[in-house]
This record gives sequence, structure tokens and C-alpha cells, in this order.
Amino acid sequence: MQPRYDFDTVIDRKNTGCFKADGLKLLFGKADLLPLWVADMDFAIAPEILEAMQARLSHPIFGYNLRLDAYYESIINWVDRRYGWQIERDWIISTPGIVTALNIAVVTLTEPGDGILVQTPVYDPFFEAVQANDRKLLTNPLSLQGSRYEIDFDDFEVKLKQAKMFFLCSPHNPVGRAWSETELLKIGRLCRKYKVIVVADEIHADLVYSGNTHRAFAALEDFNQFTLTCYSPSKSFNLAGLCTSAIVISNPKLRKSFNDYVQTMHLYLGNSFGITALKTAYESGYPWLQALLKYLEQNRDMLCDYIDTKLPRLKAIKPEATFLAWIDCRSTGLNDQAISDLLINQAGLALNPGKTYGTDGSGFVRINFGCPRSVLSLACDKLFDIFK
Ligand SMILES: Cc1ncc(COP(=O)(O)O)c(C=O)c1O
Repeated sequence: MQPRYDFDTVIDRKNTGCFKADGLKLLFGKADLLPLWVADMDFAIAPEILEAMQARLSHPIFGYNLRLDAYYESIINWVDRRYGWQIERDWIISTPGIVTALNIAVVTLTEPGDGILVQTPVYDPFFEAVQANDRKLLTNPLSLQGSRYEIDFDDFEVKLKQAKMFFLCSPHNPVGRAWSETELLKIGRLCRKYKVIVVADEIHADLVYSGNTHRAFAALEDFNQFTLTCYSPSKSFNLAGLCTSAIVISNPKLRKSFNDYVQTMHLYLGNSFGITALKTAYESGYPWLQALLKYLEQNRDMLCDYIDTKLPRLKAIKPEATFLAWIDCRSTGLNDQAISDLLINQAGLALNPGKTYGTDGSGFVRINFGCPRSVLSLACDKLFDIFK
């Protein structure tokens, strides 16, 4: 029988050092908002993972860590079972996070002034990883066709000619696309043609809804030869605070440059709980993940149906993946400041302003529906109050 998991209980996260709840005053100027912004979920983690962490806690020593065989096997088996890609142990490099990995890739595999391409609107630390390291930001704006974002491949090719590296966000935050194999093949063939290194950020790979599939970019054709793939259980198993990621690099030359930096900085050491949690998530977490996906998909449908039927001035871009929905508010005729004022001061809602993700995100907001349904329903009522 399928175990039952609880996603309905509302858990108070205040005063736990939770960015989403305790960072409200700092970021929005008010603490009493409903927080549906930072991309983590308001669900308790899988009981299997919690038990494994409790067992680790009962051993009273927290010295330096060595990742054992079973750790690597859990990643290898997960990537094989979930995405059909056979990777090798030597290809896996540990970093605390994926943003860390993006920055290491930039610093070790490109030179100051090199062009790095991103597809906007996109997760904002992509911009910082380019600009804070004195590289040149190149953008390939995604194109909204009806209620789905598509890639403008003509522009993509023009920009690739000036690029040394491309950050692929797959699935894409914030527009929610799970890129098709056809799209990924087109991307990869062009990157191969122009000798562009791809950093495939696949952190949302496990959060794909029915009718869509996640394809591991590096598993297609020979794309692994010029690709670094970033995996982590942070999003799908709600473990972001444990800071444990796996970067898969099959090309020995790229891997050596990246890994030398990781070794020098001691970034591979990790923390005991993160190591335990990743291994347990990938070994035993699949039933929980399946239940989570079902719940999230119902949340997504409820939110998008609500907007479609009750809020004609808004348009929900229904995500194919991720627990983030991208909402087009441009028909309200309000500017970004006015939208934020309404959300914060009248509705009491903390959402991410769309322009965080690039100038083409202006007029949009991002909402995180990784929360109990009762909370999402309250958020819908709050949206109704201001946008009806
Ligand atoms: C596309 C993407 N990459 C990376 C991250 C963060 O990864 P990490 O916490 O491992 O640095 C996020 C978090 O929202 C994300 O959406």
C-alpha cells in the first residue's frame, strides 16, 4: 500500500531562521505577510530522511566527512532511474550549492570579459555569477507565445557566437518550462557548433508534472563532452538548508579545472546532515516525491484555474515543472511599484517581483505554490481582493 504523507499541515516557520518567514521585514519592510516567495516548500521533509538524520544525530561526533560508496551509488542510481543517464562515480563533484557551482564554473572555465549567455527572465543569481566575476552578460530573451515561453533560436545563435559559456536552466525558473528533447537537441547542437561550454542547472529536474518529461541535457548525443550538470535534492526534497549538491562533469579537462578549485577551497567536505539526507532522499525518497508531485500538481491546477476564472486581468503561465508559477499582471496597467504596493500593503502577500529575473520580467510576479492547500487558497483570496 502507498504510504500516506501529510502536506496539509500548516507549520509555523517563524523564528527558525527561515529566510522566507524571518526575512520578510528585511526584504518587504513588513513582517506580517503571507510568504510565498523564496523557492523552498512549507512541507515537512520525508519521514525517511528525518529518521536517517535523527539516527546520524544520535552519533555524537561531527568531525570531517568522507562520502562513502553508498553516497555516490545513490546519486548514480537516481540519475539512471529518473533520467536514464548512466554516470560514473569519478564524474561527480560535491559542492555546497548550485549557485556556488555556477560561480566556480565561471571562474575556472572562462576569462574576465568572456561572454556568458542566459535566457531571460531567469533565476537572478545567474546574472550575479556572470557580472560579479567581470564576465559579459549576454541575454537570449524567451518569447511568450500565448501562455507558453519558447526559445527564439535565431537570437540564441547570434548570441552564442559571442559566448564562451551558456547557463541552461532546465526546467526553467521562473517560466516553468520543462524543455522538450527537440528543444534541447537544438540547443546542444548549436553549443557544440560554437564551442560553448554548457552549465545545465537541473535543480528542478524532479519536479515535472504529468504530460512532461525531464531530459538530462548531457545524456543527449555527445553533449556531455561540453556540459557540467548540476543536481541536488534541495528543491524536490526541501533540503536547501543542508547545502549539498552534486555536479556531474564527464569531460576530464573541464572536470579537473573545476575540481582543482573545489579541492583548494575545501568545498567538497560538506556537512554530515546534508550527506545523510541526500543519500536517503535518493535511496528511499521516491514514494514521498511521487506523493508530493501529485499534491503540487493539484495546487498548480487550483491556482491557475482560480486566476483563469476569477481574475481576468491576470494571466497564469501554467508551469510544466517547478513549484513556482509566473503570473502576468500587465493587463492591470499597473507599474511594478504599484503592483508591489498592492501586494504588500493591501493584500499582505510576499511574492517575488518579476523584474528580479530581468527587465523582461517587468509586469509579472512569481508565486511559490509549494505550501499547504489552505495557505494557497488564502493567497488566492488575497489576490482576488486586489485584482478582482
Ligand atoms: C534554477 C535554480 N538554480 C539554483 C538554485 C539554488 O541552488 P542552491 O541553493 O543549491 O545554490 C535555485 C533556487 O531557487 C534555482 O531555482
